[in-house]
Amino acid sequence: MKLPSRFQYVTESILKPLTARLRSVKETITETTEPRPVHDLWTAERLKAFAAAHFQNRRLIVVSNREPYTHTKERGARRVSTPPSGLVTALDPILRATSGLWVAHGSGNADRETADAEGKLMVPPEHHCYTLKRVWLTKEEEAGYYYGFSNETLWPLCHLTHNRPFFLERDWLAYQQVNRKFADAIVAECGEDRPLVLVQDYHFTLLPQMIREQRPDAVIGLFWHIPWPTVEIFQICPWKEAILLGMLGADFLGFHLQSYANNFLTTVNQMLPVRIDWDRSATLHEHGTTLAKPFPISIQPWSERGVPSETELQERALAYRKELELGEERLVVSVDRLDYTKGIPERLQAIDRFLEKYPHYVGKVRFIQLGAPSRIHIPRYRDLVMQIERLTDEVNWKHGTADWKPVLLLKAQHDPMAVYGFLHMADVCIVSPLHDGMNLVAKEYVAARESNEGALILSAFTGVAREFQEALLINPYDSQGFAEAIRQALEMPPEEQQRRLARMKAHVAEYNVYRWAADLLNEIARAAEAIHQAPAAATS
Ligand code: G6P
Repeated sequence: MKLPSRFQYVTESILKPLTARLRSVKETITETTEPRPVHDLWTAERLKAFAAAHFQNRRLIVVSNREPYTHTKERGARRVSTPPSGLVTALDPILRATSGLWVAHGSGNADRETADAEGKLMVPPEHHCYTLKRVWLTKEEEAGYYYGFSNETLWPLCHLTHNRPFFLERDWLAYQQVNRKFADAIVAECGEDRPLVLVQDYHFTLLPQMIREQRPDAVIGLFWHIPWPTVEIFQICPWKEAILLGMLGADFLGFHLQSYANNFLTTVNQMLPVRIDWDRSATLHEHGTTLAKPFPISIQPWSERGVPSETELQERALAYRKELELGEERLVVSVDRLDYTKGIPERLQAIDRFLEKYPHYVGKVRFIQLGAPSRIHIPRYRDLVMQIERLTDEVNWKHGTADWKPVLLLKAQHDPMAVYGFLHMADVCIVSPLHDGMNLVAKEYVAARESNEGALILSAFTGVAREFQEALLINPYDSQGFAEAIRQALEMPPEEQQRRLARMKAHVAEYNVYRWAADLLNEIARAAEAIHQAPAAATS
């Protein structure tokens, strides 16, 4: 029996999304209350075997804007670096394990001279495991597609930080043009077998559909590394339909959380003539079915990354202390890209409040901020750096003494081993974004605490907060509560630190990046095996 449209509306728009939300709450509760023994460990070897068994040596093609290895040249000296990007941190071990192809923008000034005529080279530089194919962009393309549409439109649109997105036609045109350029570069690599393509992030919303047009047989997944906003927020984008249609070219969409997947489904439900299967978290559209599912991203174990021995670490710690003129103070460390979503000014305000309330900590604690400059051609990123420097100076002037300053701002792109060194030294780590899809620094800190001592202060507005209920959860906008959490972290008894850390460590050990990758590959395998159904009937 066909339901009257009012009932249908209530069912489709209210009851079913509500059911999905309730399911997501239940999943969160289960995840955070049940004990998490390490019983089913995913490793690089297991992932490799899994990929070989499922894909019979078919190559996985991963696409992202940011490349994993950038070659630069300064005063004749060439160097290679890994960028400060959670996406890169997570994907590099997967490509190493599966020997696939990574297609990305070649952004370094020595990238061309280190690649062949097709833009290809083998990486990692010290131990060749997979191919990186660099795509070249003109200055105008980079300005419109990367600085413009990706980072001045979609980034602020998806993060709740009260920074407005800009909607410029010329950026949108460049974004389409660059997505097309990447689509052509990928299709050229596809070969005869059904290609397996895993697209990364908000830079490439149009890519799934563009690849699908040329290769209808492709299996395409898109992983969204940032939050997906509510429909009320997303709907202000003038090109919303085109973006959603582009994404629906994929067989599946991965988000960090069920709630982001729900937001996505609600958005398409209201904006396109499609049908949502809430039980399967799927959009049924005229070209087929697109699933939207949670895959919380994670990290590679530190032990695989050539970390220094305990003795070396202690020597390094002494060297850092000497170089940075640190005394015996307790250390509170933060590691971020200098991005307005990371809540660094709010953190400095909380430090100010903490020292006002608890002046006996003067001279006893040091706040170290490792900040990697990011997207510096965008005015609001440049302004943010100035704001952070000004606030650091104000806090240091207000609370500092002749031979002590509370905040040390180390503005540079620190290599992973330096980051590990600081996380290893940190009595407390603060991760306090205003909004963040996941945030891997919190996971890196927990995993770096070999002694099981240390405390994590974590913004409740990060994806990782769902997994880390044992952290000291804060609202970064509430400097009073934030200051209290700093005191609580510094005064937490060792047994409590151990109890909280042990649970979080066990969770990260089990839910590592290989498990994340295996879940994604499993989804690809399932999509590859699925018989493409006849187009579903769309309703308006
Ligand atoms: C976020 C995005 C990534 C991006 C990273 C660094 O984590 O989700 O796609 O790579 O920021 O930003 P950048 O613009 O330097 O690549």
